[in-house]
Amino acid sequence: MPRSSIVFQESLLEHLTFSLAKDAYSATQRDKFDAVVLSVRDQLSERWIKTQQKYYQVNAKRVYYMSLEFLLGRLLNSYVNNLGLMGQYAQALDIFGLSYQDLVELEFDAGLGNGGLGRLAACYLDSLATLEYPAYGYGIRYEFGIFAQKIKDGYQVEIPDNWLRYTNRWEFPHAEILYPVRFYGKVDAINCGSGRHRMLWTDTEEVMAMAYDYPVPGYRNGIVNTLRLWSAKATREFNLSYFNSGDYMKAMEDKNQSENISKVLYPDDHTTAGKELRLKQQYFFVSATLRDIIRRYRKFHRSYAEFPNKVAIQLNDTHPTIAIAELMHVLVDQEGISWEESWDITRNTFAYTNHTVLPEALETWSEGLLGNLLPRHLQIIQEIDRRFQIEVGMQFPDNPHRIAQTAIITGDGDRRVHMARLAIVGSHAVNGVSALHSDLLKTNVFPDFHAVFPDRFTNVTNGITHRRWLIEANPRLSALVTEAIGDRWMYDLAELRALEPFADDSVPPALHARLSGEAHARI
Ligand code: IMP
Repeated sequence: MPRSSIVFQESLLEHLTFSLAKDAYSATQRDKFDAVVLSVRDQLSERWIKTQQKYYQVNAKRVYYMSLEFLLGRLLNSYVNNLGLMGQYAQALDIFGLSYQDLVELEFDAGLGNGGLGRLAACYLDSLATLEYPAYGYGIRYEFGIFAQKIKDGYQVEIPDNWLRYTNRWEFPHAEILYPVRFYGKVDAINCGSGRHRMLWTDTEEVMAMAYDYPVPGYRNGIVNTLRLWSAKATREFNLSYFNSGDYMKAMEDKNQSENISKVLYPDDHTTAGKELRLKQQYFFVSATLRDIIRRYRKFHRSYAEFPNKVAIQLNDTHPTIAIAELMHVLVDQEGISWEESWDITRNTFAYTNHTVLPEALETWSEGLLGNLLPRHLQIIQEIDRRFQIEVGMQFPDNPHRIAQTAIITGDGDRRVHMARLAIVGSHAVNGVSALHSDLLKTNVFPDFHAVFPDRFTNVTNGITHRRWLIEANPRLSALVTEAIGDRWMYDLAELRALEPFADDSVPPALHARLSGEAHARI
């Protein structure tokens, strides 16, 4: 066995003994799996610290991917492959009497997404790290991800996906990275003198957001980025006061209510149940994320003037759109920056990815519900809407229809707040996820917004990370491709074009080369 595999065997045994306190008599298959994950983490930690330090040393512009979903799936195989340590671990596993393939099958899926947009988010994390972008994913650490599927009598049965039940060794909990997130309450205008007012949001309920970090290694480049997922924790204060007065049940009820926020991944966009909880989830992760982004930015910057040059935030669908109102709230209400300057900063910071052309799937909130949960944010959205209507009116004075079609808040009675419209108005770039889709956004779904902002709409076609969906999924095909064109394509998918000369080749290229070599030898 090569020396390097012996080093990995030692690492596995050390983790079994010192991290898990297990021996040959007591170690379960899962303990062995955990020992491998902990050993891979060791490989990641130093690279992770170095990467993060480097981002500070060069004062890098950071890109933040805000998404309510990250459909990560299993991480072990992907991470070992990205680190280029497949061979070493496969050999080292002899010591456990386990095959690499058996081990990989033991991992629970991190199913923190429903489908396409969660899968896209997970793929972006891999690609951003591989392309060496100073990038961060931000989302929610759901206790229950997408359902686990069982087939019973030929039918699908959906059972809760308790993916964290054996604890997850990939995650790094950070009890020190904790932000209060506020809900409900009321807003008062405070007179600051000389005719100026400041809006004060008070009497709120608080839930704490605690960070859980996941390392995101790039493909064989030494880069490790961060996926930070927030978990809801009850605030200590209101638990304790009930607890001290003897009302244990009330203390527990409040704790459960608060912590429900990160309990389950919302099943899909179309159910009516739990609407308020969904909006709570959105604001919860957006508020904590922005606090964290601003904290990181403020380490090196005194003012906000450089904010859009140092921070890019991509909104994955409309779910994080309340971030636009939240950044305005921070800048205007807390930092005392003028509305106009705050709006410039906000608009230059955000970009929005649209995922649907179906009007019924475009997210809207009842004005009443939003105003009850986030009273100050509703005021801010109303003001954004009012100012935007004036702009559109001035740009198209003879087209009242256009003003109506671009209103962010519409209807009579309980009016609706259109999140996609807010996202378009509050971003500097809007993209669909295929050429056809992006065209439809301009021509059919948002034609009036396109008339107002002709340069704002772009296309970014959805892709996959081929490191997962080809290299991992089909190792034999990958080996054949590499044999034909070398391994550059593993870093850059566009290199697959080098296969084009083989397009009409009915014989696989490697075989072809071998055959023609033999033919030459015969001649
Ligand atoms: P964050 O960006 O503040 O979340 O910190 C992430 C990591 O970056 C930390 O764990 C440190 O390893 C590193 N880091 C934080 N602040 C600095 C700094 O001022 N200079 C260099 N590295 C830093």
